[in-house]
Amino acid sequence: MEKQPLYEGKAKRIYATDKAGEYLVYYKDDATALNGLKKGTIASKGVMNNKITTFFFELLGKNGIPHHFIKRVSEREQLVKELKILPVEVVVRNIAAGSLAKRIGWEEGTKMPSTVLEMYYKNDDLGDPLINDYHIKAMGIATPEQVKTMSELALKINDILSAYLKDKKIELIDFKLEFGVNNGQVLLGDEISPDTCRFWDTETHEKLDKDRFRRDLGNVEEAYKEVLKRLTGEEA
Ligand code: TMP
Repeated sequence: MEKQPLYEGKAKRIYATDKAGEYLVYYKDDATALNGLKKGTIASKGVMNNKITTFFFELLGKNGIPHHFIKRVSEREQLVKELKILPVEVVVRNIAAGSLAKRIGWEEGTKMPSTVLEMYYKNDDLGDPLINDYHIKAMGIATPEQVKTMSELALKINDILSAYLKDKKIELIDFKLEFGVNNGQVLLGDEISPDTCRFWDTETHEKLDKDRFRRDLGNVEEAYKEVLKRLTGEEA
């Protein structure tokens, strides 16, 4: 009989393991957009995102970012530390795109003079609304100290990833992070992949991320494959 997941999200399933405090994350090929209204699959996405996330978490770990990742254990699975996820999605933006471009009326692709950090309330029923430090404090969903830690880590992660990707001819436009608490410490959780980042080719500005699925641009799998190849040299 197949093991039952503890939790099933849109792109991943979480399973308990025999070891207390360690969980197995299984990466699916399912893709959703528009807060779940658009549904589909991207062939081998789970395999590629498992590898891409592994690559980024190992890179960040080497650069002093505390995270939940332990190791990749199979094509679609990775072992992680238990986290009590803080219901705050942290978005870092270098170039105006997506919802920010729409909200402030800037053309997508406009370079911003300074980095923008945003917080969203992780709540599907509400469509993950934009919130700020005051909302977070009033709602009691994270402490001011945790907000400070998440903000500092997110900006440091932006520096590490932007510099690394630049060498691979990828521009890091924006990305979303999730954090959780383990033994009182705030750790980076979730995934870092073309599902959760905007990656543009530095020269052609071709989109190498989930916007190809969200906006029906075609060559979706090819974009994920290209990111994996540029990061690890590996052909998917
Ligand atoms: P946005 O421009 O749609 O707000 O997205 C900003 C970044 O966050 C982009 O890199 C995609 C990522 N993101 C997620 O990972 N999950 C989500 O549910 C949304 C809306 C965005």
